[in-house]
Amino acid sequence: MLSLRSISKSFHDGESELQVLRGIDMHLGPGESIALLGASGNGKSTLLQIAAGLESPDSGEVLIMGLSLAMQSEREIAMLRRRHLGFVFQQFNLLPGLDVRDNLLFQRRLNRLPPDDPWIEEISSVLGLGPLLGRPVEVLSSGQQQRVAIARALAHRPQVLFADEPTGNLHDTLSRQVMDLMVKLVADSNCSLLLVTHNREMASYADRQLMLEEGHLHELA
Ligand SMILES: Nc1ncnc2c1ncn2[C@@H]1O[C@H](COP(=O)(O)OP(=O)(O)O)[C@@H](O)[C@H]1O
Ligand SMILES: [Mg+2]
Repeated sequence: MLSLRSISKSFHDGESELQVLRGIDMHLGPGESIALLGASGNGKSTLLQIAAGLESPDSGEVLIMGLSLAMQSEREIAMLRRRHLGFVFQQFNLLPGLDVRDNLLFQRRLNRLPPDDPWIEEISSVLGLGPLLGRPVEVLSSGQQQRVAIARALAHRPQVLFADEPTGNLHDTLSRQVMDLMVKLVADSNCSLLLVTHNREMASYADRQLMLEEGHLHELA
């Protein structure tokens, strides 16, 4: 579903060069979940952004659903992202001024998908959003907002969900609940998940745990 081949990336700051990724290979199959672990500053977010076509590598190849991103135009990549990828970030990035329902349906509308789908019902019910659908998102608690963010990211049935520290703003109990629900919904829709976290417990929700250190990935037992 998602393959990275020999991905390298450096950042330049005046004279100095920071090589963040040094030849990363990774394969994420359909319905599979991978957690990327590593200390802050190790390049996890950079790797996620490259894997999602939001940033370009210096060298190497990214394939999503068999398509090499280097062979696609910006516009084609944007369409692929809109239709087939989902994103959850630490900052919830909800659309203020819209209620929960309209936040959920936003990406479906962009993709011209009908709003009344049993999947929306299921997501809302699993995430406990039913009673909140008519509320403006800005009045919700942070735990509620993050559940909306997860619902929104999955509403158009993406093939791959990218989650970067999705529970970073939540306390421990809430983090576990939210992660549990996210993994359940991902499994129900046979979506692949690339999860970035510095937290081993959160990483344990994924099928595989990969540690990013000094530009290299290695599998944790
Ligand atoms: N656009 C950028 N320009 C310069 N340096 C960057 C940029 N993005 C990330 N970095 C640097 O690359 C390193 C890895 O960053 P990041 O991928 O955000 O790590 P992580 O998500 O593991 O905390 C950090 O040292 C960060 O400062
Ligand atoms: Mg990060």
